[in-house]
Amino acid sequence: MEALTRLSVAIDSFRYPDGTTALEDIRLEVKSGDFCGLLGANGSGKTTLLKVMDGLVRDYRGRVLLDGQDILRLHPREIYRKVGLVFQNPDDQLFAQTVAEDVAFGPRNMGFGEEEVGRRTAAALAQVELAECAAKNIHHLSYGQKKRVCIAGLLAMGHEILLLDEPTAGLDPMGEHRMLELLTRLNREEGVTVVMATHSVDLVPLFLNRLHILSKGRLVRGGTPEEVFTAPAEMESVRLRLPHIAELIWRLKHEEKLPFRRVPLTVGEARRELVETLGGN
Ligand SMILES: Nc1ncnc2c1ncn2[C@@H]1O[C@H](COP(=O)(O)OP(=O)(O)OP(=O)(O)O)[C@@H](O)[C@H]1O
Ligand SMILES: [Mg+2]
Repeated sequence: MEALTRLSVAIDSFRYPDGTTALEDIRLEVKSGDFCGLLGANGSGKTTLLKVMDGLVRDYRGRVLLDGQDILRLHPREIYRKVGLVFQNPDDQLFAQTVAEDVAFGPRNMGFGEEEVGRRTAAALAQVELAECAAKNIHHLSYGQKKRVCIAGLLAMGHEILLLDEPTAGLDPMGEHRMLELLTRLNREEGVTVVMATHSVDLVPLFLNRLHILSKGRLVRGGTPEEVFTAPAEMESVRLRLPHIAELIWRLKHEEKLPFRRVPLTVGEARRELVETLGGN
């Protein structure tokens, strides 16, 4: 059965009040159960597009549907019930005194009783591995910890659609991996639809099933990681690169003419490909 379309974006153009055209001719759909990434250089429009999907950026030419309804006609409460956005900069999102108070704000605001609020707050903090920081002053957290508190705040609300603006930026390598594992678990086991802006090119093929590449406000390419990550030069033309492992195999295949059948995107796939291609020698 074809998956349900949750978000349908058809933007002819969007300009900020100072005249900057941030989005142009964007057509994309987010289906139920997608785990999709927005990739693109700085200033390519990722944050703006996420804000469009959350109903925060509104005065565009075009139409954006959430579950078939024009998002501009929905009451903010109706959007908020389904869609949650984690901002790029945690200081734009955090406001309470302590970590636990900040995370509890969302579920409390949604009308849950105090017991349920406490349960959700504790569970969300455990998911981002910050249980021991519950009582800590927000201002004393490191940048990566703040990023995780923001994500915990969203998890505590239990949205069906999560929009995340560079959720792994500033996390240490293990934290980056674990954050993507957490999002994957929510996606696969709890059916949460995830859209994230990211620069984590090397990790994207391990976790995400759909990518959209933005360049100068336009969507230049979309599809599975295999469809999107092609040749190094094509990626460079939009100020991106292939995953390092893919770049290595691509060069060995096309420049050294080693007989690889395909260009793998992850270390695991590359390992199999190397063993199969070179193992006999
Ligand atoms: N409030 C604003 N007023 C005017 N121009 C803006 C505003 N916010 C963003 N822009 C411009 O819109 C364009 C897209 O910005 P956006 O923040 O969406 O990019 P991005 O892809 O998220 O970049 P990054 O990777 O740096 O986060 C940029 O040219 C930026 O300068
Ligand atoms: Mg951004």
